[in-house]
Amino acid sequence: MRKPMMAGNWKMNKTIGEAVALAEAIRAAVNDVNNVDRVVCPPFVDLPAVQAALAGSNIAVGAQNMHWAASGAYTGEVSADMLKGLVQYVILGHSERRQYFAETDETVNQKTKAALAAGLTPIVCVGESLAQNEAGETQSFVSGQVRAALAGLSAEQVQALVIAYEPIWAIGTGRSATSQQANDICGGVVRATVRDLYGEAVADNTRILYGGSANDKNIRELMEQPDIDGALIGGAALKVESYGEMVRVTGEVYA
Ligand code: PGA
Repeated sequence: MRKPMMAGNWKMNKTIGEAVALAEAIRAAVNDVNNVDRVVCPPFVDLPAVQAALAGSNIAVGAQNMHWAASGAYTGEVSADMLKGLVQYVILGHSERRQYFAETDETVNQKTKAALAAGLTPIVCVGESLAQNEAGETQSFVSGQVRAALAGLSAEQVQALVIAYEPIWAIGTGRSATSQQANDICGGVVRATVRDLYGEAVADNTRILYGGSANDKNIRELMEQPDIDGALIGGAALKVESYGEMVRVTGEVYA
């Protein structure tokens, strides 16, 4: 059985002091919910302080991005080696990175390979825009993104990573996909594509998250779906009340 994951993407929020306070509150609230993988992904500058605040806890830390190169003349960027030891996870190819920072399927693939080589667990994001959704292109587009992100990876590497399906029209809009829609794409497109490429066993072992206005109100319904293995959470991850409730509900669903 796939272990569920509640990953908080804090985006560009929280100063160091605020990040530590939130991490400590999350630790106090959900450190004992051990049947759910709990991951917090603060901004780069917060990582050392958050790592220290969560030391000895059962809560993992992730970054929100990284560069594919090991080092060099890439002003403003951070490499996998720099993150190693600081984080266990790294979000890659988030739609905001693709949209505002010109990330492409190719760079997401390069980053995924670099993260795996460094021993980090990538959370690779895919998802269609509203226009693509309305044009009926969701399946072909999302499947293409999955194929491109996984290009050149071994079966072992694919089972070690996490894929997050995040329809762009649902991110930060308060308009979540229905649990049925989310399950249809997580299962019928993302997992089906992994199955096409790597076979049944690998597809069964790969964790697939849903993201896009997931919150403490809709999480139970989402987590009751067979192909949704967790959530990548933006806004609702910034408050211990909503994030803690999402972790607790997921723990109940998987009890
Ligand atoms: P949201 O963001 O939960 O605020 O919609 C999700 C994400 O972008 O990962």
